Amino acid sequence: MKNDAGFKGGENKTADEKAKKRIDELTDTLNYHNYRYYMLEDPVISDFEFDKLARELAYLENKYPQYVRQDSPSKRVGGAVSEKFGQVKHKVPMLSLDNAYSREEVLEFDAKIKRFLGYAAAENIDYECELKFDGLAVEIVYKNGILVQGSTRGDGITGEDVTANLRTINTLPLKLLKDIDYIEVRGEVLMDKRAFKSLNEERLKEGLSLFANPRNAASGSIRQLDPEITRKRNLVMFAYGIGDYYIKNDDVFNTQFEMMNFLKTAGININKNIKVVNGISGAVSFFDDIAEKRESLPFEIDGIVIKINDIKLQKELGEISKSPRWAIAYKFSAKQEVSDIIDIEVSVGRTGILTPVAILKPVNIGGVIVRRATLHNQDEIDKKNINIGDKVLVERSGDVIPEVVKVISKGKEKEDGAFKLPPVCPCCGSPVVIDGAAHRCMNELACPCQIKGAIVHFASKRAMDIEGLGEKIVDKLAKKGLIKNVADIYYLKRGDLSGLEGFGEKSEKNLFNSIEKSKNISYDRFIYALGIRHVGEHIADLLVKYFGSLDGIKKADVEELSSKFGIGEEIGRSIYNFFRLDSNIAVIERLFQAGVSPYTYTIDTSKKVKNDAVYGKSFIFTGTLNGFTRGEAEDIVKAAGGIVEKTVKKKLDYVVVGSEPGSKYDKAVKLKLNIIGEEEFKSLIKK
Ligand code: IVH
Repeated sequence: MKNDAGFKGGENKTADEKAKKRIDELTDTLNYHNYRYYMLEDPVISDFEFDKLARELAYLENKYPQYVRQDSPSKRVGGAVSEKFGQVKHKVPMLSLDNAYSREEVLEFDAKIKRFLGYAAAENIDYECELKFDGLAVEIVYKNGILVQGSTRGDGITGEDVTANLRTINTLPLKLLKDIDYIEVRGEVLMDKRAFKSLNEERLKEGLSLFANPRNAASGSIRQLDPEITRKRNLVMFAYGIGDYYIKNDDVFNTQFEMMNFLKTAGININKNIKVVNGISGAVSFFDDIAEKRESLPFEIDGIVIKINDIKLQKELGEISKSPRWAIAYKFSAKQEVSDIIDIEVSVGRTGILTPVAILKPVNIGGVIVRRATLHNQDEIDKKNINIGDKVLVERSGDVIPEVVKVISKGKEKEDGAFKLPPVCPCCGSPVVIDGAAHRCMNELACPCQIKGAIVHFASKRAMDIEGLGEKIVDKLAKKGLIKNVADIYYLKRGDLSGLEGFGEKSEKNLFNSIEKSKNISYDRFIYALGIRHVGEHIADLLVKYFGSLDGIKKADVEELSSKFGIGEEIGRSIYNFFRLDSNIAVIERLFQAGVSPYTYTIDTSKKVKNDAVYGKSFIFTGTLNGFTRGEAEDIVKAAGGIVEKTVKKKLDYVVVGSEPGSKYDKAVKLKLNIIGEEEFKSLIKK
């Protein structure tokens, strides 16, 4: 029998059924390949093939939203934005761990357990040893194998509902590989060292505050209102336990180790550094092995966790004041050694800050030879009264740069005084400006130490958008002496690049095209591209809106710059200082001479496009949006007939929240206003 949906074999299915079947197939296939890629690290299809299947699924899901499955891989991206995080009461409290910092304390833990269980002192207990991940504890609930809820630990009793954000973690399956009725999986969300480093580099470029460590970064990323931001942060999760569960009889496990394997076979990510040892001395050896491995691990740990392996014994031991009696965290201590300061070097970072670095007589601290330690800044040097020749205590903990803790004894030559940072930049000789705790070279556009970062920022997508001028190329061009400042980009000649390694005629042509295209750029992006300290996209936009063009900004004094739109004195002074330096002005002049001609970007608000979702509605913005500067978002609202408010009041239609929102967000929560994220905002304006 023939049918119009074109099925073979005489099946009589409607197009709907066919779509549903294909959606099911694609969902399962993509979930399987995600598992192979992220969990087994052994993909069996190419990225291209994967993308093709993902696109087909996206197309069908869009056309047949009624068949989108809860475990669809498309649920990892974007998705609904929670108004604020709801509360989740953990069925079984999430406990914390008792800590031990020495071998003695660990032996005492073992002795106590034996006393409690009535074992002889000489008897050996089986322990299961794991890494102690330094991240954020979460709980993920699976019902009938499907991820239905994820929450933070919170106070152990109640946490925050961060389901949408946890769904974006690629190592967390949306559907289990095993048929499990109900399970609460517990584990730690982490940001690996590499992702942490590049996130902070990105934030530095954008003038945003930096995360102090990967743990804070992971925690901040999980608490984003927009899951799309969480997704970009590349988090990972390692499971280490189970809360409540209901599983089939043949899946029973009797030990912690079996439980971890059970999780693994269900598709849950567990770390491979797990070991069952007989007797506490085995756990101490595991600690020593891990301490040696610690530096080479891609993520941060702060010790190991020693757990009784036998689950029956775990139950018998129970818990005492919020920690189980059957487990202990054996933590690394910060390691310190004494050394001599041979010299003090002053390095100039990408943002012009002078950092004093102590050059030490090489010293072995916890297995690593330390030759340099940071002295942070002049204030720290003064406080600790540090100088060349001093005998000092040096500390190294985790991934942090070693630092000088204190002076043990002063060197003979420089008995009293502390080291003083130079008044001129050691890199380019420009005068150094004292800027709070920082000593800074203000020669932002021409100081060789700052220049590479400045050029990469200048060319980046959200600045001048010069495609093809990334870090590697900039590095090569700088090494060849072809670019010494951002203006030199526009004076490159054909043929300059074709000799560079990995650079053919075609890529040279493409680069020249994008350099040419970049000459015609909006003024706010040009200002942002200059990389003036503290001037991110939003402030660049404000400056252009208020002053119209560069001339106005250049002439303004600190007071005018700071007070007009409330950006504060620190930022005002930074802008003022930038335009007081002849070398910066000279670079800008050369940019203009080369044909860079920024235009003022305005949306004609008189030509209103009637958009019912926005027309006549009031909006307020807080936090940083990804795809727009604040000014652009506000202009779009105005152009569509909406009203932009500056203060939170009871009658507001939308509160649009970006990353790291300010107090407006708290007020909006209190007033129970309609809070939306960037994705929802985008779909409103699309209408
Ligand atoms: S077991 C009942 N195992 O440490 C035992 N915790 O200080 C509770 N942590 O909140 C946790 N790695 O966030 C366990 N392998 C591991 C761990 C681990 C890190 C964290 C966890 C917990 C905290 C307790």
